[in-house]
Amino acid sequence: MTTYLGIDLGTSGIRALLVDEGGAPLASASKEMSVSYPHPGWCEQDPGAWIEALESVVGELKRDYPRFADIRAIGVAGHMHGATLLDADDRVIRPCILWNDTRSHAEATRLDAVPGVQGLSGNIVFPGFTAPKLLWVQAHEPENFERVAKVLLPAAYLNHYLTGDHVADMSDSAGTSWLDVGGRDWSENLLAAGGMRRDQMPRLVEGSAPAGVLRADLAMKWGLLDNVVIAGGAGDNAAAACGIGALNEGDGFVSLGTSGVVLAARGGYHPAPETAVHTFCHAVPERWYQMGVMLSATDSLNWLGRITGQKPGDLARGLGDTLQAPGRVRFLPYLSGERTPHNDADIRGSFTGLGQESDVSDLTRAVFEGVAFGLKDSFEAIRSTGAELKAPFAIGGGTRSRYWVELMATVFGVPLNLPEGSEFGAALGAARLGMVAATGATPSDVMSPPGVSAVVEPNPLLIDAFEESYAAFKATYPAIRAIQ
Ligand code: XUL
Repeated sequence: MTTYLGIDLGTSGIRALLVDEGGAPLASASKEMSVSYPHPGWCEQDPGAWIEALESVVGELKRDYPRFADIRAIGVAGHMHGATLLDADDRVIRPCILWNDTRSHAEATRLDAVPGVQGLSGNIVFPGFTAPKLLWVQAHEPENFERVAKVLLPAAYLNHYLTGDHVADMSDSAGTSWLDVGGRDWSENLLAAGGMRRDQMPRLVEGSAPAGVLRADLAMKWGLLDNVVIAGGAGDNAAAACGIGALNEGDGFVSLGTSGVVLAARGGYHPAPETAVHTFCHAVPERWYQMGVMLSATDSLNWLGRITGQKPGDLARGLGDTLQAPGRVRFLPYLSGERTPHNDADIRGSFTGLGQESDVSDLTRAVFEGVAFGLKDSFEAIRSTGAELKAPFAIGGGTRSRYWVELMATVFGVPLNLPEGSEFGAALGAARLGMVAATGATPSDVMSPPGVSAVVEPNPLLIDAFEESYAAFKATYPAIRAIQ
């Protein structure tokens, strides 16, 4: 009896999910990881900690679940854009600079202005993307830059650990600003613009294609067969799309996680960098996806929890389940700057409309509304590219709050589907990529959507009030921008 393993390397922890040959979840294990913030706007992680965490979750599954021994393929999903720099002996040169690190905003602006860069990469060069990080290292740590033999994204670093090879998938590589996203290959012009060479890049495969086999020493240590297939894998958002069955036009999701994402699967390549929407290769061949990214979604609630000394879940529960009309207090959710639609690494958040009567619950409501409005910006930007999301799934930790989901449905003006069960995320998507890589199955046969546990409709009585409030939210950004 065959099993498959999906690994999701997230920012705050790693998760491994074991599924059976039909893709049904059997067991999972997870381990938290920390992030370091050595300077304001910087965000780093030690790749060695990813390996320790991987070994820990694998060790747990091996110990507790005999069917771990039946693994036929493994897929890895990872947080995107991180620059893991390896020297000629495959040693890590410095901590990985993560997706939400904005230190390279000046380099990003310069690279973005180089003629042809947006055209080839299909995207704005955001400060969080990989190419500007390398330009920053070149300028500020030349001794490290000189030693760079390979640059691997976090998922590709785990692929390297698993296979011994430097190999990455298209979906993750699309977030580097070195990939010709329409042509699905490294671009000599983009590499040259970023001061890099093709030999510093990993080999490219589709996420659902085999990338290699598990190293013999790891197979022995983990008690596995010696021909376990490692799939190309994916960036975490593409993997989540595979987990929720979003492969075709009209499919997509809104994710309320640390970052907020509105994602639409696309049958073709429709770049629209002027909207600040991201256009990336999907993890399956001949598909792309578009997404708007908000840097601080549930992280805005986490921040409010930290400064009020309350747990984020308690703050959310404090609002109850019944959606209220928009409050007078307003929040701009730009605690770490913003990508879609502003591409503004410097902007920071704000509260407006505070009164003597304002309490923690008003602030929580404002945070919920600010995040919903910020995601509505992404939803509208995606719509403007021609993608139609009629009833997207709502996923991510924030959807545990029914209030937040109904608020988003009302602000977006479309029903949101809550998925059945608890497994439809990046780890499942990664396991499914492993299944396709090992069996050669058609992706759409394996990557079916989950059932719908509830359809959350927009609240018809509050649509107009939220439309007005959204217009006020949009007007706040330029006003706050002018004074920051
Ligand atoms: C996407 C992005 C984030 C990370 C977080 O462009 O930066 O969603 O992938 O995991």
